[in-house]
Amino acid sequence: RDMEVSELEQIDKVVKGWLRESRDNVLRKIDTRLTVNTKTSRRDLVTNIDKENEKFLVAKIREFEPEAKILGEEGFGDKIESTKGRVWIVDPIDGTMNFVKQRNHFAIMIALYQDGQGELGYVLDVIGNRLLSGGPQLGVFDNGVALAPVEDTPLANGLIGLSGPMVLNNDFNMVDIAEKSLGMRIYGSAGIDIISVLRGELVGYISYLKPWDFGAGKILAETVGLKMTTIDGQPLGMLSSTAVLLATRNAHRDILTIVNKD
Ligand code: IPD
Ligand code: CA
Ligand code: CA
Ligand code: CA
Repeated sequence: RDMEVSELEQIDKVVKGWLRESRDNVLRKIDTRLTVNTKTSRRDLVTNIDKENEKFLVAKIREFEPEAKILGEEGFGDKIESTKGRVWIVDPIDGTMNFVKQRNHFAIMIALYQDGQGELGYVLDVIGNRLLSGGPQLGVFDNGVALAPVEDTPLANGLIGLSGPMVLNNDFNMVDIAEKSLGMRIYGSAGIDIISVLRGELVGYISYLKPWDFGAGKILAETVGLKMTTIDGQPLGMLSSTAVLLATRNAHRDILTIVNKD
């Protein structure tokens, strides 16, 4: 049932090519006037570039694998109801608010699942030009170089990446979690936070996320021994939309203790 390594290596080359093109397309248009629309609220934005980039990546995947199912945030993929077979997940611009207000600190993310098992994940920091890529059978790479082992740092010895709304509402005792850490960071892009955890710059990251926000990160994180679960410590299904906790094993345990106190 696992995919063959040789096939994964071949797909890996192809996907990296799409990402290079996709990044070039975004950079070429980055100083043009954006068309910005709101989705569910004034803080939930989509731009013409999110849509164009999703169309671009969906077209590439369809051309490469016509029978594949694709889950894309902006709706240019398919309706996915089951995890059976090959499912590609695309977040064309992660951190759209950052993209609109900063033209920086956003990511492009792609994941490939086979029968619900993560096979390949890609998180590209577009402006930083840093790609975290790989999967359980290939290992994880940081711009093509094997990722350094992630130290199992406890919460008290590291920085924690949080989502703004969770801190403002003190959901899941978020204030105490921040208090216990060496400091909180609110980056505004799941992709940028995930890269930071993989690189050991954050001990963890907590946010309400959708499959396209965590699909790629989960594959990379689990490959290097990090834990990614729901905020109650339950397994995270590839189609779930929920509060997500990504952390080193030690920080994961520390955070669950704080979430579950009272
Ligand atoms: C959002 C960002 C944000 C996270 C939200 C996501 P989008 O993704 O990753 O940091 O807190 O939950 O929806 O909508 O900009 O792709
Ligand atoms: Ca969005
Ligand atoms: Ca996203
Ligand atoms: Ca997005």
